[in-house]
Amino acid sequence: MRLGTPLSDTALKVMLLGSGELGKEVAIELQRLGCEVIAVDRYDNAPAMQVAHRSHVVVMTDAAALRAVVEAERPHLIVPEIEAIATDELVKIEAEGLATVIPTARAAQLTMNREGIRRLAAEELKLPTSAYAFASSEAELARAALEVTGFPCFVKPVMSSSGKGQSYVERPDQIAHAWRYALEGGRVEQPRVIVEGKVEFDFEITQLTVRSLAGGEVVTSFCAPIGHRQVKGDYVESWQPQAMSNTALARARQLAKAVTDALGGQGIFGVELFVKDDEVWFSEVSPRPHDTGLVTLVSQVQSEFCLHARAILGLPVDVTLREPGASAVIYGGLDAEGVAFEGVAEALAVPGADLRLFGKPEAYERRRMGVALARARNTDQARARAAEAAAKVRPVRG
Ligand SMILES: Nc1ncnc2c1ncn2[C@@H]1O[C@H](COP(=O)(O)OP(=O)(O)O)[C@@H](O)[C@H]1O
Ligand SMILES: [Mg+2]
Repeated sequence: MRLGTPLSDTALKVMLLGSGELGKEVAIELQRLGCEVIAVDRYDNAPAMQVAHRSHVVVMTDAAALRAVVEAERPHLIVPEIEAIATDELVKIEAEGLATVIPTARAAQLTMNREGIRRLAAEELKLPTSAYAFASSEAELARAALEVTGFPCFVKPVMSSSGKGQSYVERPDQIAHAWRYALEGGRVEQPRVIVEGKVEFDFEITQLTVRSLAGGEVVTSFCAPIGHRQVKGDYVESWQPQAMSNTALARARQLAKAVTDALGGQGIFGVELFVKDDEVWFSEVSPRPHDTGLVTLVSQVQSEFCLHARAILGLPVDVTLREPGASAVIYGGLDAEGVAFEGVAEALAVPGADLRLFGKPEAYERRRMGVALARARNTDQARARAAEAAAKVRPVRG
């Protein structure tokens, strides 16, 4: 793969499918290497569109619309940033040799559906996971919870992300509500859920795993583990490195290697794992930068976005940790278009702090509008600083 000049015949063209805050940072890294960046999302002025050469508003779950934009632009690389994409069409596009899908079209297809990736991890690769079953009706769900997982358990639509449609179910009489809630939160017509037994973990991590080229061969590198805290299935803070035993770290990397080898291709993967003492369970994986990995913007020599850009372009990567860091999410806190931000100077006056404001055209109460980042001597101090900085930033009506 040869880098060229954007907007010329030598341009290396990269199309982002999904143009949120993670795509925006990837676009910036690609811009730095002189790629021609085309941003696609379902709404106009999405974050990555604001730093791309061109953009298109497309319903990416619509196979015909997706093909049309790919045929019009003829990108060399297609980089999915979200799960809700017509991945069957990506498989065809890749098979026809129209473009390379990152990391592979099959990886995008398997990971957009919890059933695909769970069956691969647990049944083919035999990785340890929570007890689980799938259900397509309330009665099936009730039976699966009783017979397979027990209580408490988690009920999740097989096609959903960021906690949408997920319930924590403690008793059989909550199953009906969980089923209805999953139907509302899921992405597809045919309702289907996974029910998972609760793993009583000490902490959970994201093991960022990079598949890149070195001397023409794919090599796997591991970032320092990222600890994070989730509220209602959505991440609120993360830190790096997460302290863990050598045995648990070795197991985490074994699991991450197994699942990323199976998915293949080049790029970064966010492997989500649960840890208790020396024991590690696989939870899920995203074949792209991970939201909890925003912390790497301050904690690593090369952020997860830089690593992704380099890996997909076939360039060498460096996963070295620079210093302990943390990230804390800044929510909209209100529903409004074109918000302004107060408290930015105060936030940036916190020692070691930095900010990313994503530039989303519309805020709502629980929408992620920015992130506070902080470096420090240790992760406790970094978390305190990131939280302090995040709390100072207040989105307000314009
Ligand atoms: N089986 C489980 N046991 C314990 N905690 C879980 C389990 N499943 C989900 N969780 C919690 O809910 C969070 C979100 O679940 P996840 O499957 O990662 O959904 P999403 O795809 O929306 O990120 C996890 O990070 C974890 O904190
Ligand atoms: Mg998750």
